[in-house]
Amino acid sequence: MTTQITSFTDYKNIFDQSIQSPEKFWAKEAQTFEWHSIWDTVLDYDFDTPSISWFVNGKLNITVNCLDRHLPEHSNRVAYTWIPNNPDEISRSYTYQELYDLVCKCANALKSYNITKGDRVCIYMPMIPEAVIAMLACARIGAVHTVVFAGFSSEALVNRIIDAEAKLVITTDGAFRGPGEIPLKEMVDTALSSKTTTVEHVIVYKRTNSEVTMTPKRDIFWDSFMDNQPAECPPEIMDSEDPLFILYTSGSTGKPKGIVHTCGGYMVYTEYSFRNVFHYEPHDTYWCTADIGWITGHSYIVYGPLLAGAQSILFEGVPTYPDPGRFWNICQDYKVTQFYTSPTAIRKLESFGDEYVKSYDLTSLKTLGSVGEPINKDAWEWYFTIVGGGNCQIVDTWWQTETGGILISSLSQVTPSKAGYAAYPLPGIMPIILDENGAEITTPNTEGFLCIAHPWPSMLRTIHNDHQRFQRTYFSRFKGTYFTGDSAKLSPDGLLKIIGRVDDVINVSGHRLGTAEIEEALNSHPDISESAVIGYPHSIKGEGIYAFVKCIEDTHSEENLISELTNHIALVIGKIARPDKIQIVPDLPKTRSGKIMRRILRKLAMGEKDSLGDTSTLVNPEIIESLSRGIIPA
Ligand code: WTA
Repeated sequence: MTTQITSFTDYKNIFDQSIQSPEKFWAKEAQTFEWHSIWDTVLDYDFDTPSISWFVNGKLNITVNCLDRHLPEHSNRVAYTWIPNNPDEISRSYTYQELYDLVCKCANALKSYNITKGDRVCIYMPMIPEAVIAMLACARIGAVHTVVFAGFSSEALVNRIIDAEAKLVITTDGAFRGPGEIPLKEMVDTALSSKTTTVEHVIVYKRTNSEVTMTPKRDIFWDSFMDNQPAECPPEIMDSEDPLFILYTSGSTGKPKGIVHTCGGYMVYTEYSFRNVFHYEPHDTYWCTADIGWITGHSYIVYGPLLAGAQSILFEGVPTYPDPGRFWNICQDYKVTQFYTSPTAIRKLESFGDEYVKSYDLTSLKTLGSVGEPINKDAWEWYFTIVGGGNCQIVDTWWQTETGGILISSLSQVTPSKAGYAAYPLPGIMPIILDENGAEITTPNTEGFLCIAHPWPSMLRTIHNDHQRFQRTYFSRFKGTYFTGDSAKLSPDGLLKIIGRVDDVINVSGHRLGTAEIEEALNSHPDISESAVIGYPHSIKGEGIYAFVKCIEDTHSEENLISELTNHIALVIGKIARPDKIQIVPDLPKTRSGKIMRRILRKLAMGEKDSLGDTSTLVNPEIIESLSRGIIPA
């Protein structure tokens, strides 16, 4: 029997049991899945090495659990209703049987292009069903997918392709996004011609029917790739700890980290968390608006909902096209019951006023989810009152690319919610808040470092090709515990509040970006000698990007240089990383050892010039006055 938590008391009991005997708790969850052969040990771990194995020696294929096990009983159940960017284009539904057939065909096609177990396949696609099909087809044959968000630039794409040593890329001719089009295939071509890679083939799905250049032998259109492939493909038998996917995310150094997730634990946790957080019930229609290029798309558009046999919406477009009522229009027309989006989207839609929401009938909604960044009280209230009509529970879900699934959240219809609080750990999750010395903070309202004391099944297992960085980033700051990089505090009644990152990662519209990554990109511009990037509070995006840059020599007009740098960042990383503010400075505040004091820049950017704190270690204190004069106001 799967654990379905039904009341707050029930939650407390189950939580206590899960903490007392975590292995027993997780074994019970895992037993609800189809395994080719069962594990012999539930958990084997050592946080020092670190090495983490769940369901040791268990054999399975996650797609058997996503697809086969719902057949034939639920063959006609809709897995996805796909809604195109353009509201005039017809939506399409895919039943579990249809999805199964397409995944098998695609899996066979991949095999026919020599993709085998362990090979990496890069997926660079818009939000279309074929992206999900491609991911599942990889999993079917044991290939490791690495999805790259289609908003990333050619350069960001090729760096990920190289790091993952991908053998094949799946893309589209172009992508529709709001009123615009993005030439994805052209971007893949640029990526592959800019550096040497291991890519042998590029598969191109025709989405926009725009003209593309096909490189003979290397490039194949999706239709001929899929043509004549049988709709049955035996699942590759995977070890529980074989990798399922690599997903790149930003860290505090310049190079993105390839987060590795494995098959068994990820399967168990994404289904368990999906079912309990969203309170999904048969005949519900669930919609997560994330992009499959992020972890939320992986865990809560693809794997979690399919494992639970859910019926979901897959949306290609953006919240404001053709107008800011688009989300609500879809919720009304498809009778969406669970809606999961980001605080940035909520704030943005709120800024257009209530009328767009009020013109639609949203009475089907039961649960409203939020993810990716702290949701401020005002946006929370608007979401609750205006979108939910005061009748829906808000689940503020805290988690990370690294955690694979939601670790802290209220559970819809089970545990209470409170504005500004991610609330409670899911049963099986053991958060602790530590002070600088690693001592646990139990005093309410005292901020500290958020750590997780015990492994959970969907945690990352390593950073691709860099196990040392894995150890350093997550297990060295505090011994014997996983360090999240976030700070948090507890309320007197035991609810967790997430405050924000304590490392050099900023969260712009729910997108994680490393300040070092943006600085490296700025410094690669020939006219820039040095830069320092910080995050500052932004009313819509949560955080905005403020870049202080120092030029090699004064050759440009300031205006030209700023627009050049903005374009340069879009080319090196992608539009999402374009700074909101660029200040050209004569120098940066530095310590004697040459370290840039970002703390001072942060204070200046927030207009707190009079509370800079200790500046005695600065080698160039005279710079402060001129920096302060140049601060770009909000
Ligand atoms: C932040 C997204 C506050 C946090 C799933 C975390 C949040 C980072 C919340 C991970 C939340 C995510 N409240 N902050 N509900 N959810 N975060 O890897 O700083 O893109 O460490 O995963 O987003 O971002 P990532």
